[in-house]
Amino acid sequence: MTRTYLTTPIYYVTAKPHLGHAYTTIVGDALARWHRLLGEDVHFLTGTDEHGQKVQEYADAAGKSPQEFVDEIAPLYAEAWKKLNISNDDFIRTTEQRHKIGVAELLQRCYDAGDIELDVYKGKYCVPCEEYYTDDELDPGDLCKIHKRPVEYYEEENYFFRLSRFQQRLLDWYDAHPGAIQPEFRGNEALGLIRGGLRDFSVSRTSLKWGIPLPWDDKHVAYVWFDALANYITAVGFGSDNDEFGKWWPGVNLIGKDIIRHHCVYWPAMLMSAGLEPAAGYAVGGWLLVGGEKLSKTSGNVVNPLDLVDDIGLDGFRYYVLAETAYGQDGDFTYEGLIGRYNSDLANNLGNLLSRVATVVGKKCDGVGPAPRQDSPLAAAAAAALAGATEGWAAYQPSKALDATWQLIRATNAYLETNEPWKTEPGPEVDAVMGDALEALRIVAVLASPALPDTCQIVWERLGLSGQVSDQRVPVNAAWGGYPGGTAVVKGDPLFPRR
Ligand code: MSP
Repeated sequence: MTRTYLTTPIYYVTAKPHLGHAYTTIVGDALARWHRLLGEDVHFLTGTDEHGQKVQEYADAAGKSPQEFVDEIAPLYAEAWKKLNISNDDFIRTTEQRHKIGVAELLQRCYDAGDIELDVYKGKYCVPCEEYYTDDELDPGDLCKIHKRPVEYYEEENYFFRLSRFQQRLLDWYDAHPGAIQPEFRGNEALGLIRGGLRDFSVSRTSLKWGIPLPWDDKHVAYVWFDALANYITAVGFGSDNDEFGKWWPGVNLIGKDIIRHHCVYWPAMLMSAGLEPAAGYAVGGWLLVGGEKLSKTSGNVVNPLDLVDDIGLDGFRYYVLAETAYGQDGDFTYEGLIGRYNSDLANNLGNLLSRVATVVGKKCDGVGPAPRQDSPLAAAAAAALAGATEGWAAYQPSKALDATWQLIRATNAYLETNEPWKTEPGPEVDAVMGDALEALRIVAVLASPALPDTCQIVWERLGLSGQVSDQRVPVNAAWGGYPGGTAVVKGDPLFPRR
């Protein structure tokens, strides 16, 4: 069985889960669900990034120990993902023992390979980024380009990872793995960074205590990014369960565009140094902006995804974030956009289709769904939807996959409008049209289920189908002709009342 290991970034516990975190996590969830539909053995990981100077400073400000502080915030992520129906198989916290063991092992391997050496760091550091910057990477006044706030200067003895030695090996690896970074233009960004020359980076701090001690020199704690990146392997057993690790690694890392350098440059080099395989690939998302700016506590434009769920409903929210923005590009979140998508795609298209089909079947077919025709005019639209959805999900493009699926909804609504079964006397003609529409809806329920898991289960049940839509398999159960006919079709309440 094909195995698929998917990960989200692990989120800093200095902020409560916001729309940007929810976005990346929902994309990962939908992809994981799609791969399960394909019948693959899927492992979907998310978690929290809990060490480093930033967390230490937040804990200090809150008058708490860092451990107390992270223990309060980390569960907010786990709870938020439950509310958003995220189907993660595991949740890693970098303060867990399994992670610490694996990080120590990774560090030791890189050290033994001669790629970590002691040196002196003199330079500038942005705490919110947890990143070292050179002068030419900063805005005037030594301001971080992302956070628009001054960086700190520090000078201390650090261990350095000799990234500069990996330029050719990284270029060779990307050459041998075309398309490893999706979408392609994000891959070009990463290659540009590598071709531009690589600086060694510090992997330890002595002035900070909140971190994982280096196994050979415990005056130092590991640099938070070295620690955090390792989560993708420590969570699946690196350093603690080799069989499990062998089963899942390498996986695909879903990331935001802000962390390309860490994931597509540092991370594969760290793994190569340790004698491990780099990640199988990277799916890079843009930012979801609010008023043109990245969500952040400092800009004060944080949107709580759970408030939106309370307002528009869980699947309405999930659909919006997946359908509205092409993954890889930036998207602008607006409330009007959310309502607009909801009304057009969910209320007027999907919701309306189910409601009119159930109504006509109730009135003209005694509430029992007729079987579809093999030579239905809708069969080609269904095949195109299956092909388009398959292509879209495979390319990490949920918006394309959903657009292909919605084409089938639109085609089915148009088909009903052309045939007007509501105006026709009960009989074979109505039965034929309604059987086709029911079959189209059944296929839509399968194809849209990664995005709208609860809604599609409801559709499934209203069509009179038994079992779980999530247990269906693609392509077989999304091929034309699967609706058996003869099941009781239920009208029920509107799926998506208009707003
Ligand atoms: N802890 C690091 C990641 C370590 S992964 C080994 C980190 N955390 S973060 O919480 O600041 O952001 C993590 C990711 O959240 C970003 O890369 C991005 O994927 C996502 N987003 C955070 N804000 C976002 C938006 N406004 N829009 C879309 N995604 C954003 O960086």
